[in-house]
Amino acid sequence: MEKRNQKLRKLLQMTFFRLKDKDTLKWIEITSSREKNTLQVDPDNPAYLLEKKDRISRDRVPEYLEQKLAGIEKASVKIIERGSVITLKILPGDVKMEINTQDKQLQHQKTPEYGTRQDFIRAGEAEELLKAVGIMSPEGQIKADKRRKFYQVDRFIELIDEIIEEQPGKGKITILDCGCGKSYLSFVLNYWLTEKKRIPCKVIGIDDNADVIASSRKIQKQLGYHNMEFREEKIMDFQTSSDIDMVLSLHACDTATDEALALGLHLESKYIIAVPCCQAALHQKIDFSWWKAISKHNIFHNRLADIFTDGLRAAALEAHNYRVSVVEYVSPLETPKNILLRAVRGYHQPGAKSKYKKLQDNVSGEIPLENFLKTLDYRHKD
Ligand SMILES: C[S@@+](CC[C@H](N)C(=O)[O-])C[C@H]1O[C@@H](n2cnc3c(N)ncnc32)[C@H](O)[C@@H]1O
Repeated sequence: MEKRNQKLRKLLQMTFFRLKDKDTLKWIEITSSREKNTLQVDPDNPAYLLEKKDRISRDRVPEYLEQKLAGIEKASVKIIERGSVITLKILPGDVKMEINTQDKQLQHQKTPEYGTRQDFIRAGEAEELLKAVGIMSPEGQIKADKRRKFYQVDRFIELIDEIIEEQPGKGKITILDCGCGKSYLSFVLNYWLTEKKRIPCKVIGIDDNADVIASSRKIQKQLGYHNMEFREEKIMDFQTSSDIDMVLSLHACDTATDEALALGLHLESKYIIAVPCCQAALHQKIDFSWWKAISKHNIFHNRLADIFTDGLRAAALEAHNYRVSVVEYVSPLETPKNILLRAVRGYHQPGAKSKYKKLQDNVSGEIPLENFLKTLDYRHKD
């Protein structure tokens, strides 16, 4: 028994050491002939676990379990974290450990079906999440009015996955979703990274609409996604003392796309990924005199202005040493706002700065992104 208890101590310490810096623990189940108990993560402070009237600090959990199980001949402890279950089978003379993950399913994830696109996120595997965020009905169907959103989020994540795959093994990543709205993207991305790819992450969602932040916080609590934070604030007011690795924006309206891009540049984020929404800010500023014969038609004028605006955004990112790819991330039938700018920092392109300057000469006044960037750099000068 003494030898077994020593092994139990070692396994518990090892398991909780692995979980130490992750926010993935959901609950712990202890089953023995004497009792069946559950330790829940405290929803108000994930540094603690709750068991009936006890409140146990996470650091003390291995010791707590060890004491609880010391005199018991047979028991099982299930440590349920997001995406895996660790089971300790405690026998009279030994302890056996089993780890059950969903990694096997991941191998099937990318199998394409010819002529059709398979969802990147398998809805059936992500039921709890999709129901909580309101994409799936209680009966397990993707809701008709949420199909488009799910598809957009799914494709967005597939494209994020590609760039993460290019440079794997970097450790924890911190993601900022600007204009997160109801946070579909943030939640599903968090699920994908944590439970499928097993990449530790922190996801911060910001939005200046109090209602969407309140509802996101409610869903976060329901799901026990402790590695998320939602802030009701303007993109330009965002401040942090830690590094941001990825800045995202999906259909952030008005000038919010430019604010998000400027913030990404200001924070020197490794990745900046944006699906722009409104491009109106530049429409009246672009000098179309070169192609008056075309731009006199309103439709052409608007389309040219859209392309010019997104083109300038891409050129701005390149001028700041980002490698940019421009992708139609979903079909234009899904949404006409279907251009995704994907930028990765650390690629100096000779001449990119002067080309960008030349492009700006076609716009009377400065592009909003430049103004926002100047404001941010000025505000945080020291
Ligand atoms: C069209 S919604 C998109 C929401 C979400 N990204 C999505 O795709 O479902 C745009 C969101 O951006 C937020 N927003 C717009 N301008 C903002 C700003 N300057 N700062 C913070 N949030 C902003 C709005 O409140 C809104 O929730």
